[in-house]
Amino acid sequence: MVAGVAPSSVPLIPTNGASSSSKGPFPKRKLILNAFDCIVPSHNVPGTWRGEKGEGHKRFDTLDYWIETAKLLEKGKFHGIFIADSYGFLDIYQGNLDASLRGGFQIPKLDPMLIAAVMASVTTNLALGLTQSTTYEPPFALARRFTTLDHISNGRAAWNIVTSVLPSAARNFGLKEAIEHDKRYEIADEYMDVVYKLWESSWHDDAVKRDAISGTWTDPTLVRPINHSSPHFPDIPGPFISHPSRQRTPALYQAGSSGAGTTFGAKHAEAVFIAQPTPKVAALKVAEYRKKVEEAGRDPRSLKVLPQLLVFLGKTEEEAEENYKYWHSYGDGEVALAFYAGFTGVDWAQWGPDEELTPEVGSAGHAFLENWKRMKPEIKVWTREVFKREITISRAGAVAIGTPAKVADIMEEWITVGDIDGFNLTHFARNESFEDIVNLLIPELQSRGLFHTDYDAVPQPTDASRPIGVTAREGLLGVVGHPHLDPSHHGHQFKWIS
Ligand SMILES: Cc1cc2nc3c(=O)[nH]c(=O)nc-3n(C[C@H](O)[C@H](O)[C@H](O)COP(=O)(O)O)c2cc1C
Repeated sequence: MVAGVAPSSVPLIPTNGASSSSKGPFPKRKLILNAFDCIVPSHNVPGTWRGEKGEGHKRFDTLDYWIETAKLLEKGKFHGIFIADSYGFLDIYQGNLDASLRGGFQIPKLDPMLIAAVMASVTTNLALGLTQSTTYEPPFALARRFTTLDHISNGRAAWNIVTSVLPSAARNFGLKEAIEHDKRYEIADEYMDVVYKLWESSWHDDAVKRDAISGTWTDPTLVRPINHSSPHFPDIPGPFISHPSRQRTPALYQAGSSGAGTTFGAKHAEAVFIAQPTPKVAALKVAEYRKKVEEAGRDPRSLKVLPQLLVFLGKTEEEAEENYKYWHSYGDGEVALAFYAGFTGVDWAQWGPDEELTPEVGSAGHAFLENWKRMKPEIKVWTREVFKREITISRAGAVAIGTPAKVADIMEEWITVGDIDGFNLTHFARNESFEDIVNLLIPELQSRGLFHTDYDAVPQPTDASRPIGVTAREGLLGVVGHPHLDPSHHGHQFKWIS
């Protein structure tokens, strides 16, 4: 069934200020900017939904909000939006869901695929990235949804591949407990081969005829089964139910940070999201990723690394500080504790407010707290109140506060010290954040030559009913004419070539 590796047959046109400092079609180039969100009342910064100045949080469940946001991001020339998702909720803190429910945090949560389809309808170039898990849903169903999004968006679908960690999700999908960490990645690895076969192997490039004269929509000789068999997916015959979309396989994102997670990312991802506090600390993770990518037989620069960054802007330093103070005053530390209880499995409420935190050595909670201790050596005693104060705003990513010039300086430091390719820009109050980024920060980045001033032009088919933009993959790689997986990518070997 594996058809062998073919040479790239598409013309590769490096764009966006690409330099020739790297081999292959993956030069280091201008910044990639992604907007990061989730369809919940309160995303990365708990509590800010209460701020009177922000109104996006109040409209997160309306069509209009996402339509306006998509248009705003495309006006700012963002490469894409990435919408996080999970089926789990945070019920470890105090042994219940109350803090999350009260804080609108991770619950309620709506389906990003439907929202992405709406955003596709009002944009042309914005990549539409969303999380879907490999843990609970059969690959056949997931593959069809992404192909549908890729068709209707003309090649702008991107998938953030996750494995599901939360026990609450496991229970709601009929399991007693969450599947063990490395086993989840083992399943995910097999899952990927199934979807590559569905997307790349089942339908030949020439299968779709749409020929009314001969009465042939699809040439039956050019569609074939996949006959996949592996330990976790023993019998998936195919063929795929959907015809190939512009990218075939959506652009692939991932955000693992463990050994198994980064190995998986190095093999499958085309972009990874990281959340690190400083460029120096991030550089270690970036180096680990690039080394593993090279070991996987790929150009280390073919993987784009995007750290999370939260920015508070102002036209003056004072204004930026005021902005930060305003939103910080709404931060809800109790909900942040609930979040980190969910993800570490440690109920931080077992310690009193002024008691020192002592999670069991070797537990995820211990590793997490140790990380904070390294970042903030000036704090000598980590009580629950101290911990709560520290985690309220930052949620483990980096924070930059200042004028556009100061924030651009900080971003430049990330590029030179961290060796990153762009940013996953998160928000404190949805459109309040993204409007400032579009109106204040992006012009500064553009004037420094760090960010593109427009999307690349794409040849328009004569029969196109609406303009066609760059695909998610082309935007990410900065190479027009590269809509499909690169020949060096693991998934490319499944392509039907004859
Ligand atoms: C920026 C960012 C976004 C993430 N988005 C999601 C998400 O949408 N859904 C999810 O279940 N996990 C998400 N994660 C968690 C990661 O997929 C991953 O599970 C986590 O970083 C732990 O790494 P590990 O799985 O390698 O242990 C995200 C992580 C980061 C850094």
